[in-house]
Amino acid sequence: MKGVILAGGLGSRLFPLTKITNKHLLPVYDRPMIFYPLQTLINAGIDDIMIVTGGSAAGEFLRLLGNGKEFGLKHLNYTYQEGEGGIADALRLVEHFADDQPICVVLGDNLIERNIRSAADDYKRQGKGAKILLKKVPDPERFGVPVLEGSRVLEIEEKPKTPKSEFAVIGVYFYDHTVFDVIRTLKPSGRGELEITDVNNHYIGKGTMTWGELEGWWTDAGTFESLLRASNMVAETGANKI
Ligand code: G1P
Repeated sequence: MKGVILAGGLGSRLFPLTKITNKHLLPVYDRPMIFYPLQTLINAGIDDIMIVTGGSAAGEFLRLLGNGKEFGLKHLNYTYQEGEGGIADALRLVEHFADDQPICVVLGDNLIERNIRSAADDYKRQGKGAKILLKKVPDPERFGVPVLEGSRVLEIEEKPKTPKSEFAVIGVYFYDHTVFDVIRTLKPSGRGELEITDVNNHYIGKGTMTWGELEGWWTDAGTFESLLRASNMVAETGANKI
């Protein structure tokens, strides 16, 4: 399985912090944000990784990470997202890299306390389709929210005003090679982006989506509140525990 980190976007919710740099280079406690999702993939046993970035600070990722030697990697792959087309638009760019293999996609502003190795192993056994991870949160309306019936996920609603469950869909996704065909069918959402939630709903419609509940804390870091929370969580308990 290959790994993908999505680290593009304008980071407009963090302006002016993101006026001259990329959100994923900002500090979270004692490390640049991008270190955390990179470690998430490495801890899951994934060492063939592509970083999708964009904007005017894209070259800084190369300066910071190089070939990933500090992380024990032999090499790292990079690609560049033109413009601001959303998460699924960024994912489109890794089709050649994925080379028909399954992929684990991590959003570059998502941090976890523990690891996703057991979910990755479950997905390998699943063999096809997709898998998402859920976490109970106090503010699900900020995220993709699953509609659940028993252990079945019926649909995901993106930032619903009235969430139908207490869960958020976290930014860690497992997909088979058909994900790129799915992306080709998408239309931009109300915010003008190709939404990852539309990709996930496609797999749900086909009956090939599974989900697991993440253990340990999870947070995004794309707003002032969540960036501060992320730093505090890392300072208090550490992240990416094996
Ligand atoms: C994105 C997804 C959302 C998901 C979240 C996790 O939201 O659209 O479904 O729950 O990441 O961090 P965004 O950060 O683009 O608003």
